[in-house]
Amino acid sequence: MMKKAYIETYGCQMNVNDTEVIFAILEKAGYGRTESMEEADLVMANTCSIRDNAEQRIWGRLDVFARQKKARPGTLVGIVGCMAERLKDKLLDTGKVDLVVGPDAYRRLPELLEAITPDSPQMDVLLSREETYADITPVRTDRNGLSAFISIMRGCNNVCSYCVVPYTRGAERSRDPHSIVREACDVFQRGYREVTLLGQNVDSYLWKSAEETVDFAELLKRVAAISPLLRVRFQTSHPKDISDKVIETIASIPNICKHIHLPVQSGSTRMLDLMRRKYSREWYLERVAKIRSTMPECGITTDVIAGFCTETEEDHRQTLSLFEKVGFYWAFMFAYSDRPGTLANRTMKDDVPPEVKNRRLQEIIELQNRKSLEEYRKMIGKTVTVLVEGPSKRNPAELCGRASNNMMCVFPAGNLKKGDYTDVTVTDCTSATLICK
Ligand code: SAH
Ligand code: SF4
Ligand code: F3S
Repeated sequence: MMKKAYIETYGCQMNVNDTEVIFAILEKAGYGRTESMEEADLVMANTCSIRDNAEQRIWGRLDVFARQKKARPGTLVGIVGCMAERLKDKLLDTGKVDLVVGPDAYRRLPELLEAITPDSPQMDVLLSREETYADITPVRTDRNGLSAFISIMRGCNNVCSYCVVPYTRGAERSRDPHSIVREACDVFQRGYREVTLLGQNVDSYLWKSAEETVDFAELLKRVAAISPLLRVRFQTSHPKDISDKVIETIASIPNICKHIHLPVQSGSTRMLDLMRRKYSREWYLERVAKIRSTMPECGITTDVIAGFCTETEEDHRQTLSLFEKVGFYWAFMFAYSDRPGTLANRTMKDDVPPEVKNRRLQEIIELQNRKSLEEYRKMIGKTVTVLVEGPSKRNPAELCGRASNNMMCVFPAGNLKKGDYTDVTVTDCTSATLICK
């Protein structure tokens, strides 16, 4: 009989995608997928290390998994992903884990599983310079069958001083563009209408072979050429690398969505230097101006960190004023979390007291809530094309779907069904939804 694997996924979209790759690899080892931990032979968490609280959650889950193992002897427990890579044998030392596998070692899962005995847990945390899982067709775990995420590169070559990703995911490498286009084609033929190309820094995507050199702009063109009915999204862009060529490519091709997630991290150039982001406040604002002048309808969203090492009230005011100026319609906002092994951890002092970090974060959140509403209000009266996703959560008589700029819209159902495109006119809004007719 086929065994069953249950996987919980934490952290970023790339981890969601990796879980789908893991299911594909496990299938070959005779494991089907289950959504119930109680019936699983293998229970795993695909983990995240980005902030301390991400890891704290996993420690809590490990206790739950340990109880399940007691209740169902023979159940194997695995920790994979970024926290596996960062903590390695520290996880094995808990005695609660049979398997520890880092992000570049998933191909070895079958043989590692095979080798596990009660006395010999297995671990592989080697990072690779080549692994992109290009040839593995992910087992899609989304339920809507409309929107697929496709990994176009792995790792990161930047050394933002606060960030663990370069240590947990290793060096940057780009995936063969032909395998990306093939995967996008395949999901389109299976009814999907949207693909999101994933990488820590998509603007530095670069594929070189004897025949060709493919950069991110060229990759966007190739994926968009699959069909005008296939929407193309991408994340994450890096302010230091997003080029005029990429911006102009997005502008010139209708089915490339007009949404750029452009993490700023701080509005103060002094902070950006300490963070090693390699751009200034002025550079960031210039990139935003370029995007806005090329595509006035483009939505811009961001990430920001409050209370990084040595941040002063003046630095913080610079972040607030940048948020005021740009008008993001959405932002992920975080309090700085010191991560072992990063440059900041080794060379700087985490000297902003927690209450100050949280107060500054709160000020950013309040400002952003106001700006979100402002940005959504600007849409009233406009007509946008939405891709119908399905019934709206609040009111099942209505449908929901996203505009090209990624804002969520709700509108009357009419004769529309999932996967249709329709034009709607915005009549009202909240700070997170456009209400349309
Ligand atoms: N590659 C992307 C983001 C990856 S991590 C980029 O370069 O923008 C996602 C977000 O987590 C980051 O944008 C940052 O805002 C946040 N983050 C990363 N490390 C953090 C830390 N140590 N403390 C708080 N937030 C952090
Ligand atoms: Fe981390 Fe910076 Fe790389 Fe983003 S670009 S993953 S923040 S090191
Ligand atoms: Fe977390 Fe790793 Fe993603 S640290 S944010 S799961 S790359």
